[in-house]
Amino acid sequence: MNAVTPALPAPIGLLAELTHRCPLRCPYCSNPLELDRRSAELDTATWQRVLTEAAGLGVLHVHLSGGEPTARQDIVAITRTCAELGLYSNLITSGVAGALDKLDALSDAGLDHVQLSVQAVEAANAERIGGLRNAQPQKFAFAERVTALGLPLTLNAVIHRGNIAEVPALIDLALRLGAKRLEVAHTQYYGWAYVNRAALMPAKADVDRSIRTVEEARERLKGQLVIDLVVPDYYAKYPKACAGGWGRRLMNVTPTGKVLPCHAAETIPGLEFWHVQDRSLGEIWAESPAFRAYRGTDWMQEPCRSCDRREKDWGGCRCQALALAGDAAATDPACSLSPLHGKVQALAIAESALETAPDYQYRTIGGAPRAAMPEGAPV
Ligand code: SF4
Ligand code: FES
Repeated sequence: MNAVTPALPAPIGLLAELTHRCPLRCPYCSNPLELDRRSAELDTATWQRVLTEAAGLGVLHVHLSGGEPTARQDIVAITRTCAELGLYSNLITSGVAGALDKLDALSDAGLDHVQLSVQAVEAANAERIGGLRNAQPQKFAFAERVTALGLPLTLNAVIHRGNIAEVPALIDLALRLGAKRLEVAHTQYYGWAYVNRAALMPAKADVDRSIRTVEEARERLKGQLVIDLVVPDYYAKYPKACAGGWGRRLMNVTPTGKVLPCHAAETIPGLEFWHVQDRSLGEIWAESPAFRAYRGTDWMQEPCRSCDRREKDWGGCRCQALALAGDAAATDPACSLSPLHGKVQALAIAESALETAPDYQYRTIGGAPRAAMPEGAPV
């Protein structure tokens, strides 16, 4: 079924969460608290069919993600399928464990781009955050091989209280490793990041300093390094257009084949998700109740309903609205026009002012976090 009509544009990107398995245990992971097990993962042929349907639907980019996508034995075959279909493939990887061993084959299979996560520059700090010893030298060796193979490299650093002082050093590291792009991505509080919020929340003064550092480096490094900046929602004036707007640009396929409008959509109770095992991607994009729930602007309440920005940010993030306002159809409290915005900022300031940050609750498959929700949520 071709689901694309003038009123319903094609999705541009597909986030293929190939597996939730990962050697790292980052406390800010956006994966759900209940991680999918290997035995329930889609097989190679199903992923290849999904990619074929995605290409037919007009998808241009495929983000091969996880978890750690190279943990799958068939990552090379899946990458080759992307290349054969003319899909631009981006490998989102931690660069550790067996990732380096597969890199040459991935390049030969037609991989287009590599996005490597870094937890910090200083090794002990990086390895404490990622929860894996000896990760840092593996990452650096991986980055070196990426550039030796002529593949474009992006470094992705999720920023929080534990590494915000290292933003200048992260910029130097990106230059040293030959990255073309650096993402300075302040933590988005979903999944494991949400339960670790009090441990991760940086002080506003540090956030402002990090933004100034990035702005100065962008000027200085024009033509050498592109720096993307994701500002922290809790201190923002307006929210981001999460996932480019619900059901407008992206599809997210989970390791077991559920198709989501964003990576955290399963936190919203009552949404019905369709599976790639049962329906085509085109049918899911057009007709799935989950995609239709918050597509466009009809579902909006005030102040979004009459706001000039409603088709710019699409009301912000539905998952954050649920987590903080207790209503997925509310205005994202990251927005300064939300009646809850002041409370959310006060919460962030209070958490960041804790003299000693709580211990991390590390991401783990089959292990429940100590506390599912930070205190005070919804605000
Ligand atoms: Fe965006 Fe809604 Fe805030 Fe307007 S009120 S800026 S549409 S989130
Ligand atoms: Fe779900 Fe933002 S993460 S809409």
